[in-house]
Amino acid sequence: MMRYCRDVGMQPLYAIKLIMNEIKIFCPATIANLSCGFDVLGLCLETAGDEMIIRKSDKKGVRITKIVGADLPLETEKNVAGVAALAMLDAVETEFGFEIEIYKNIKAGSGIGSSAASSAGAVFGINELLGQPFTRKELVLFAMQGEKLASGNAHADNVAPALLGGFTLVRSSSPLDIVKIQSPSELYATVVHPQIELKTSDARSVLKQTVSLKSAITQWGNVGGLIAGLYTQDYELIGRSLHDEIVEPLRSVLIPGFDLIKKTAYENGALGSGISGSGPSIFALSKGKETAEKIGKAMSAIYDEMNLPYEVHVSKVNDEGMKIIAP
Ligand code: HSE
Repeated sequence: MMRYCRDVGMQPLYAIKLIMNEIKIFCPATIANLSCGFDVLGLCLETAGDEMIIRKSDKKGVRITKIVGADLPLETEKNVAGVAALAMLDAVETEFGFEIEIYKNIKAGSGIGSSAASSAGAVFGINELLGQPFTRKELVLFAMQGEKLASGNAHADNVAPALLGGFTLVRSSSPLDIVKIQSPSELYATVVHPQIELKTSDARSVLKQTVSLKSAITQWGNVGGLIAGLYTQDYELIGRSLHDEIVEPLRSVLIPGFDLIKKTAYENGALGSGISGSGPSIFALSKGKETAEKIGKAMSAIYDEMNLPYEVHVSKVNDEGMKIIAP
């Protein structure tokens, strides 16, 4: 059955009943783009993320009642979680509303999907309280409304892996067509986040609106290569495909020490390295935890040397995505 609501073109669902009153969830961080896949590829991390508590309220609508760890608006319409939840509640007829508490660990403007974790978390949590009227893929449409508020663009390459886990491909945004991509079990990500804020809208404003045919050919060759490498567990093919000659050259100048961090990642065994999402975080993929940790240490040494505060995350690809942590 196709379901469409006002914002995302779905028919409303009626007489939805609540199956739980409160839920606590883990909302994972994500790496979007993965070098060659600007706005279409993403992967889910397991060691970095926010938490949210969502509970039923007798009052209709959505209220953000608490935000810990970030200075973000409590007004529902100005908060990405609020906007995503409202888009979802436009598609379901309920006699009650929801309160949301957000515990942020992922800093805004970090490049590891802070707004996506909140947008996707809100709709995932409400959907669980309602007994899962929507599939995780359908929730992507609602979560994208939060991304639109955050960056002016309803991109799905962070919310899709946050909701579905693993690697995801946004084959098309309109109509939405998301594909979950199988990935090898020993694939690890290292992310270093220099503690500066880079707004996605600013990082998008430096991009050109056209690309040369030559660059486009290189890029789609690499996207195909990366997907083939993930499916066939061909780590070398994955590495050869992690290359971006369209977006990275324009954005990397915004990130302190980018070239050196990337070079160091390769020297320490990375399969590939590039900008995580819109930056300033820089990611590297590698085979095995040991190499991923070694890369993390080498990246840290560079920012130590530059006297720049940073955070490092080493994570396996998280195949599960959003998850319930209580009750
Ligand atoms: N694909 C988006 C961008 C991701 O690079 O602008 C933002 O995290």
